[in-house]
Amino acid sequence: MLKGKTILLGVCSSIAAYKAAELTSLLLKQHASVHVLMTKNATEFISPVTFETLTGHKCLVDTFDRHFVFEVEHIELAKAADLAIVAPATANMAAKLAHGLADDILSTTILACTCPKLIAPAMNTRMYENPVTQDNLETLRRYGWDVIEPGSGRLACGDTGKGKLAPVEEMLEYVIRRAALPQDLAGTRILITAGPTREAIDPVRFITNHSSGKMGYALARIAMLRGAQVTLVSGPTNLKPPMFVDFVPITSAHDLFEAVTSRSDEQDIVIKAAAVADYRPCEVASEKMHKKEGDLSIALSRTEDTLQYLGDHKKPGQILCGFAMETEQMEERAQAKLVRKNLDMICANNVKVEGAGFGVDTNVLTLITREDRRQLELMSKEQAAFEILSQLKGMLR
Ligand code: CTP
Repeated sequence: MLKGKTILLGVCSSIAAYKAAELTSLLLKQHASVHVLMTKNATEFISPVTFETLTGHKCLVDTFDRHFVFEVEHIELAKAADLAIVAPATANMAAKLAHGLADDILSTTILACTCPKLIAPAMNTRMYENPVTQDNLETLRRYGWDVIEPGSGRLACGDTGKGKLAPVEEMLEYVIRRAALPQDLAGTRILITAGPTREAIDPVRFITNHSSGKMGYALARIAMLRGAQVTLVSGPTNLKPPMFVDFVPITSAHDLFEAVTSRSDEQDIVIKAAAVADYRPCEVASEKMHKKEGDLSIALSRTEDTLQYLGDHKKPGQILCGFAMETEQMEERAQAKLVRKNLDMICANNVKVEGAGFGVDTNVLTLITREDRRQLELMSKEQAAFEILSQLKGMLR
């Protein structure tokens, strides 16, 4: 995700400074080139050698160090940076950055950065909640910084409250959001459905399918990383919703219909990757059904077809994309669905093809539009999501 990107990581003096090493390691796993800048006090908590060993670059602590690779290191680094993140940031550093004070290598370099800037504060609750600190963070937000809110819990000083450095995975996703992909979907509102639905039979049983939700979640994350404003309507899955998306959990096909149709008017693109039940039990038993001799039949009635409804009530300029999972005559059936449901594109896959079934991390898709069809090779669901979104973006007016 961060291949070819130069990330500056500023480390301040906090007991959480050791987590900056973990963040460095996660950034390196995403193939970023990481340069670490520390305040002098931070070196009391963690050695620059740790960062130098991890990154392969000199860790900068002293502005007047004559071993600099570049002539005026802080300016060269600031020019090269694709993103700067200060984590952990002390109240003192937040105050300096908010007011343009530059009296060490970290604050001097950041002042010269024009790239996206992120700050992850870590401090005692009283210091964090002090209106002075809050004002400084608000000032940074006003200057376009992302403030990665600290979490709550037991702090190093023994107090309990807000001030713990945000989890490293969360900070990484903030970095990826700002640095990884071009923001070519900024200003685009996209609603995506994902996962299976559950149709209740009685209080303990339901009808469902094998959908894992992976394709829909990949679409939501990649759309978010490309700057779109994403709503993810999802049936029950084992997946963690992507950060920075509006997450709407649903259970049944009826819930999905309500959730989607109440939000669809304001969407530029709707992508329906959910595997929605076509039938539900006509009656849901209010008590658990007990077994009896002989066979059992359950009468089923049709659920609402949300995508058909959206196609029939399509708003001018809106792009609708469906999915078709087939086991035979894939292209013909998918093409028929495209026309019947008044779609702009349908992503067809054959469950029987290796790498395209339920639950796997890959897919083999054919993207069918009114004009053409494009066969994608076997690829990760995130790559497939990227392709789908690029194709749909090209269809927007
Ligand atoms: N879909 C929907 N609401 C339903 C059923 C399906 O919105 N009640 C959407 C799915 O999210 C998917 C597409 O419609 O994008 C699938 O098309 P569909 O014709 O319903 O296919 P299947 O449900 O697989 O059923 P069949 O092949 O039997 O027509």
